[in-house]
Amino acid sequence: MSTYQPVPADRFTFGLWTVGWRGVNTFGDPVRPALDPVDAVRRLADLGAHGVTFHDDDLIPPGSSDTEREDILKRFRAVLEETGLAVPMATTNLFSDPVFRDGGFTSNSRDVRRYAIRKVIRNIELAVSLGARTYVCWGGMDGAETEAGKNDHAALDRLREAFDILCGYVREQGYDLRFAVEPKPNEPRGDVLLPTVGHALAFINELEHPEMVGVNPEVGHEQMAGLNFAHGVAQALWAGKLFHIDLNGQRGIKYDQDLRFGAGDVKEAFFLVDLLESAGYDGPLHFDFKTPRTEDMSGVWESAAACMRNYLILKEKARAFRADPEVVEALEASRVPELSRSTLGEGESLSDLLAEEIDLAEVGGRGYHFERLDQLAMEHLFGVR
Ligand code: GCO
Ligand code: MN
Ligand code: MN
Repeated sequence: MSTYQPVPADRFTFGLWTVGWRGVNTFGDPVRPALDPVDAVRRLADLGAHGVTFHDDDLIPPGSSDTEREDILKRFRAVLEETGLAVPMATTNLFSDPVFRDGGFTSNSRDVRRYAIRKVIRNIELAVSLGARTYVCWGGMDGAETEAGKNDHAALDRLREAFDILCGYVREQGYDLRFAVEPKPNEPRGDVLLPTVGHALAFINELEHPEMVGVNPEVGHEQMAGLNFAHGVAQALWAGKLFHIDLNGQRGIKYDQDLRFGAGDVKEAFFLVDLLESAGYDGPLHFDFKTPRTEDMSGVWESAAACMRNYLILKEKARAFRADPEVVEALEASRVPELSRSTLGEGESLSDLLAEEIDLAEVGGRGYHFERLDQLAMEHLFGVR
């Protein structure tokens, strides 16, 4: 049996803001000390991670002078060099500063929208210089509490304009960088623009360069909307748009919990890993989790290590599930492989289909045996098979 010890080849990555989260929430003050990004990188490397990601402000505190910025970057580049950790993705904080209280790309204030684009471009420069290939855009402040205050049609126009400008910039510079839109239904705004994977995919099709933009779905965000995350990811994969993924845990429709991966809906985590592995997704496996406020720093590192360990455990379970001869036979009995056959046979015409007859009584009486299949999956998950 595997020791579930992660190695860089597993492609696990973490946001600086995840292990660095100080536990501040609407009701509570910070419970943990600030974490130096350099220490975060060293610790993540020790745990077996492949890379680290950041918002501009996680790395360079807002208000830093140019020389402070240079010093920070020098230390950061040095620790990346020392540990071998990669920076596959970066993103922008378009939410903390009071200027973003009505959003970034879709703020009603035009000067704020212009500032947001400048802020993103400045960090794209840094991201590219560190080797990032994906740039995540999470528009959590792009939303509303009241319909009266937001013209959604105009907001979508402005959002499209922002992506068109950013894609144009990346093309002009000749950078090898793609964007990934991260959907979320609510929080911090009462309602957020592009609330689900489906909304994001439809939006991307309206862009000038849809090929440069994909999605960065987050487990908990779809589940906050009561949606099935594995189905959302499956559709993103089907559309060729799974550019990145945020792995974490969530228990049902409530505030964004950002639990460690595997906590929350374990069964959906199992089917998600099964999907990612069988589809051959080869991008970063990025954890966007927050360690609960009850924990001190040792709990943070426990939690970070557990994210990776849980992925590896589920990966082994998914492999065993697929290799189990009884499962193979049950899949057949459930007609799962039959769905991959086209509905019209090769060389067949619609008239052949129209001429066909079905025995409704017989076919209507057909059982699909999904219960047996599901139970087999659960028994693999429970560790009794
Ligand atoms: C959340 C979001 C954020 C974004 C991150 C990237 O938990 O609401 O996931 O953590 O992923 O800000 O921009
Ligand atoms: Mn989240
Ligand atoms: Mn996220």
